Order: sequence, then C-alpha cells, then structure tokens
Amino acid sequence: MSNEQIPFLDLVTVHRELQDEFVEILKTALNSAGFIGGPMVQGFEEDFAKFCDSRFCVGVGSGTDALRFALIATGIQSGDIVLTVPNTFIATTEAISQAGAQPDFVDIEEQTYNMDPGNLRQYLEKQCLWDSGAKRAFSKRTGKPVMAVIPVHLYGQMADMDPILDLATQYNLKVIEDACQAHGAEYFSKKENRWRKAGSMGHAAAFSFYPGKNLGACGEAGAITTDNEDVARSCRMLRDHGQSKKYYHDIEGYNGRLDAIQAGFLRTKLRHLKKWNGQRRDIALRYNTLLAGSEGGVTLPYQPDWSRSVYHLYVLRVADRAQLQKRLDEAGVSTGIHYPIALHLAKAYEGLGFRVGDFPVAETAVSQILSLPMFPGLTSQQQDRVVAEVLESLAAVPVSGSR
Ligand SMILES: Cc1ncc(COP(=O)(O)O)c(C=O)c1O
Repeated sequence: MSNEQIPFLDLVTVHRELQDEFVEILKTALNSAGFIGGPMVQGFEEDFAKFCDSRFCVGVGSGTDALRFALIATGIQSGDIVLTVPNTFIATTEAISQAGAQPDFVDIEEQTYNMDPGNLRQYLEKQCLWDSGAKRAFSKRTGKPVMAVIPVHLYGQMADMDPILDLATQYNLKVIEDACQAHGAEYFSKKENRWRKAGSMGHAAAFSFYPGKNLGACGEAGAITTDNEDVARSCRMLRDHGQSKKYYHDIEGYNGRLDAIQAGFLRTKLRHLKKWNGQRRDIALRYNTLLAGSEGGVTLPYQPDWSRSVYHLYVLRVADRAQLQKRLDEAGVSTGIHYPIALHLAKAYEGLGFRVGDFPVAETAVSQILSLPMFPGLTSQQQDRVVAEVLESLAAVPVSGSR
C-alpha cells in the first residue's frame, strides 16, 4: 500500500482555489480601512441569515461568543441552570458558566450521539420540582431554576428537535441550538411536515466559523441566528460593549465583533457551502458502503430518516479504539477524537460533583469514537486507503461482542 500521508483535514487546497477572490477582499478592506463592521459584515449577515432560513444573523468573534451572547440575550442569568449534553466541545458549557449560569447534563442517544429527548423528559419530570406559580422547573439537586436547554447538533447532524421543542414549551425553557458543527444541516419536523434548517428552530442558535468547520473563516469567527428581533438587537449590543450607538453604553457588553475581512472571506465561501456539504455527504455515503458488513464490531454513523447530516465529522465506533487509531497513525492516516472526555468528568467541572456512571451512554461513546479523515476534496484513492487500513485493523482484532 502507498504510504502517502492522509490528512484529517485539508485547509490548504480550498483556500488556494479561492486565493484571487480573497486578495480582492483584502484590497477592499485595505483601501477603505473597513476592518470592523461595515458592508462586508452586513452582507455576510444577510446571506447567512438567508442560508439558515432565519430572520436575523449577528456576526461575532467566535462560536463561544455566539453561545454566550445568545444565552445572555435570551435572559439567562446568574443562578440559572442550563441543560446540555456531556459529549460536546467545552465551549458549550463555558458559555453557560460565563453567562453566570450552571451547566447540567442530559445523556445522549446511543445511535446519533445527540441529546436524548426521553432523557430530557426524565430529567424534567423526575429530577425537578415544577413550581406552577413561577412556571419553572427547579432542579432537586441544586435548587436552581432550569431556564434553558442547548441541544448540540454534533458532527453535522441535528438533534431530534420536535420533542425537545415540545418539552421546552411545556417547561418554559429557552432553546439555544449549538449549531457550531452543523452549517446547512436539516431536520424533518413531523409537527410542521417540512424540512427545517439548523439555526432556524430554537429561540437562537450559535455557529462557529473556526477554520476547520464546514464553513470556516481564515481565523476566528462566529454568528448567532434568530427570528427574534429583540434577541438580535441584544446580541448586537453585547458584541459591541453594550452600546446602542457609539459611546452610549446601555449595558456592559464584550469585545465580540466579527472581523470585516473574515466576513468577506466567509461570504465568498458561503457560495460554495452547498456544494461542499454535498461532497461531504458523498464521502460519508462511500465510507458507509465500503465499511458496511466489516468484521470487528464497528458501528457506522447513523442518520435517522428525519435527518440530513452535513457530516462535519465522520465518526466510527469500535471497542478497541486505541488499537485502530495506532494502526491508522502508523499507516500515515490522521484521525481525531471528538471528544475524549465526557464533560461532567472533566477536571474543570470537578466542583459540580458528578461521578463516573452518571451519563453512561455518553461515557461509553467517548471511549470508543474515532473520527476518520473528512473534507471536501478527499479523493477516492485516499478514502480507499483509509478504508483498507480500517478493515485490516478490524480483521486483526477478535470481536468481543460488547460495545
Ligand atoms: C459544538 C461546538 N460548540 C462550540 C464551539 C465553539 O466555537 P469557537 O471555537 O468558534 O469558539 C465549537 C467549536 O469548536 C463546537 O464544535
């Protein structure tokens, strides 16, 4: 077999192809000194809102900013509980803490790795007391009010939003979608009998444009989408030191603006996103076909019929992950683990008092998941080599039968 290195992600080729357009954007910014705000930011916000079927888009400095501002703008404050899943990037829970609230967790579905609506219901029914006067569920464990839920659309696939939104209505919760990995993902809402875009279903949603995302900047960037004009206005103030007009600060805010040059780059790249997401889907489908029926107890990504994933990541699950990753590494195939520690067990959250076994589905998943190379432009030959290495490695491992 060839020993060509196969990257996990190729961010060079795509930008080389767009270089001329990017140079023009740089020249526009340099010639107008338009580095902060202005038409490039506004233009991108309009285009991205349209792409997400959302009324408003507010460009910010990162996905973490987007989550933090969306939480604050929807009314989350000190002493509140915000629910999310344990198997997300720490930015989700950082934003909750930075908004003054406390994260609490709901375990995930075995197959999709996203929030299990059944577990959300159980949490609200069994682990909370409903105060009908305050119209609020209070956590029995902490005594704090549960104010919001952040479903994370992990790996490019949306969470099962219909039942999550129903529970949110029933329990008076705000819903902030963490769509940082899900630009363009879709969900078929049985309630509405139509496909809905990531970022259009909650009270607000957060997107990251970190370079490796499906829509990535050439630096840091993020955005909030929302249909709510007040939330959008509030996010615009929060990103800009709380000012409604220059030097008139209605509240304390942050320095969390979207850089104009990044907005220009993102606007150009947005025009290609549908095509790139299509390429990711084709690659995922091909991985599925080539790996189907393989030995060694591998579990392939699961896409329910209500989901159109954009495959930010292609994630396998195997009992002996270390062995498979080592073998691929020796063969020059780069892989990743997203993410290796369920957050309730992260050192940063020791103070919250969780234990091993509290969220068993997430805990087992994080010990077995492995992300294979996935990016538009991954060639069939490269993919064949990845698959051949995976199959050989799996064939060498006795099947344990357990996951
Ligand atoms: C699920 C999730 N949430 C939040 C973030 C934070 O985004 P950023 O890195 O742009 O702050 C990321 C990005 O890595 C993410 O994957």
